Amino acid sequence: MKRILALCLPLTLVLAAAPAAASMALAQKHACVACHAVDKKLLGPAYQEVAKKYAGQKDAAAQLKATIKGGSSGKWGAIPMPAQPNLSDADATTLATWILGGAK
Ligand code: HEC
Repeated sequence: MKRILALCLPLTLVLAAAPAAASMALAQKHACVACHAVDKKLLGPAYQEVAKKYAGQKDAAAQLKATIKGGSSGKWGAIPMPAQPNLSDADATTLATWILGGAK
């Protein structure tokens, strides 16, 4: 029994960590990280700031998905975010949800 538990625990940890790691990998793959960091402003706002701004808004995920794909300007400062035409809907949704969750 102890052995089974010992095997299960690391597995659970790996499974719990996987979605976050996958989303960070997506952000790297689509070069979001060139302009965004999780906890500090680069060219674009920190993802944690984005999560704070939209916390509690019920259609936030859909809105952010649209801005991630279509680009954005005037919401955070003078620098606009270019549209991301090569981003699939599925990847945009994953990134929007991940960012809203604080990009953890
Ligand atoms: C060339 C730099 C650049 C790249 C690449 C970039 N962003 Fe941005 N992003 C910005 C800037 C600048 C803003 C602020 C725009 C504004 O003021 O409206 C922004 C804003 C955002 C916002 C907030 C939008 C809102 O409606 O408040 C999110 C979410 C976001 N970016 C996610 C992403 C994701 C995900 C990627 C990768 C697919 C990405 N960004 C790639 C520069 C960039």
